[in-house]
Amino acid sequence: MAESWSSFDLHLDWRPGDGRRALADALRRAIRDGRLPPGSTVPSTRVLAKDLGMARGTVTRIYADLTAEGYLYTSQGAPTKVTTRGGPALAPPKEGIGPRAAPWVPDVRWDFYPGRPDLSSFPRTAWLSASRRVLHEAPASVFDYSDAYGPIVLRRALAHYLARSRGVVADPERIVVCGGFKHALTTLGRVLADRGEIAFEDPSLPEFRAAATHGGARVTGVPVDEHGIRVSELDSPVVVVTPAHQYPLGVTLAPQRRTALARWASETGGLVIEDDYDGEFRFDREPVGALQALAPERIIYAGTVSKTLSPALGIGWLVLPRALVEPVRAALSESGWRTPMLDHLVLADLLTSGVYERHVRQRRAAYRKRRDRLLAALPAGFTPGGISAGLHVVLGFTGVGEAEAIATLLRHSVAVDGLGRHWLGEHRRPGLVVGYATPAEHAFGPALDALVTALREISP
Ligand SMILES: Cc1ncc(COP(=O)(O)O)c(C=O)c1O
Repeated sequence: MAESWSSFDLHLDWRPGDGRRALADALRRAIRDGRLPPGSTVPSTRVLAKDLGMARGTVTRIYADLTAEGYLYTSQGAPTKVTTRGGPALAPPKEGIGPRAAPWVPDVRWDFYPGRPDLSSFPRTAWLSASRRVLHEAPASVFDYSDAYGPIVLRRALAHYLARSRGVVADPERIVVCGGFKHALTTLGRVLADRGEIAFEDPSLPEFRAAATHGGARVTGVPVDEHGIRVSELDSPVVVVTPAHQYPLGVTLAPQRRTALARWASETGGLVIEDDYDGEFRFDREPVGALQALAPERIIYAGTVSKTLSPALGIGWLVLPRALVEPVRAALSESGWRTPMLDHLVLADLLTSGVYERHVRQRRAAYRKRRDRLLAALPAGFTPGGISAGLHVVLGFTGVGEAEAIATLLRHSVAVDGLGRHWLGEHRRPGLVVGYATPAEHAFGPALDALVTALREISP
């Protein structure tokens, strides 16, 4: 017999002793069935805990989970309510922003698609305070047409930050601030088109390879092994690399290969584009310094706020060899690119006040915990790779094909990326690229449960 929920005049099919998970399920069912209608108020955690004879903390956790999943809605000082849609369609509602911000990510409840940080961790309060300061203090000229390479205050702040945190040889005159790494690659693809060919690591992100061809250059692949890119097989005038944490495999470029790559560039006149997309997130030892310091006139350093703050900001930077500063500035200007001045000034404020570094430190600790939880929960049959840094792991497996594994995950409403689409050549071993940073902090537990349940089905 179901127990009566006296304070709510509602029969939940749940009995004392069934436990927390069963109560959460019973609430989900009640919302889906319409017994708890959209927009209705649910009892406070104190009242419900008392009625059901449970610890209040347990009920609070259930409410937090259901809020993360899109069943409930809370706002400060107001009672908790059922969302106006009466529960999630598949993904939590994203009212007011139009279509999905990242349309290539399947519309699922549990989002482990790599490439994004925990969007709910964006430092809204700090950003708001810095915006206020900027708007109070900035001269009217900041509202004018802007240059195409970023305000000097941001370039100065970046030069200090990059030298300190990543060992980059940076002075403000070499720095060009752009719209992120993909924007940087389309621009460099045009500037370097006369070199004819740009090499990428194999595997690497196909979207970035496509971006680099906009100026007309061809793309080739150079194999990656457990020590990183095989420098001895490099035969192109330009190469794009991810030395701190190879994307997607996650290996770190070995010290001898780092030296060999810098020597290759100096001796052949080649150019290296160093994509340092998640260099701040190293968990098990000191961060690996930027390669750029080994040959600053031959190595272009690229960074972004897409993993540290948010990809929606569209802010990235290049630290360029001196000879490339003017051509890159000119290409950006010709393309119609204009600095989003206010956002750039806010970022400069966060960098100079130390808030940015503090945020990165906090995120590093949080992501490291998630990585450890994921590894501890991983079922047998999956071999994790690239775990010492970054916001993703690669899971190797055997027995089923990659497409089948991804389809199983989607049936459980879990999104990940597949390794297969990243290869240029024929070494297509199956793998799952799992971005563990994306779920909101309070949803990480249930998201991990869903992922692990689905993985067990792939490799029982
Ligand atoms: C390998 C790699 N490099 C760079 C980036 C950052 O790109 P952007 O600055 O265009 O957001 C990403 C983001 O997913 C990435 O995966």
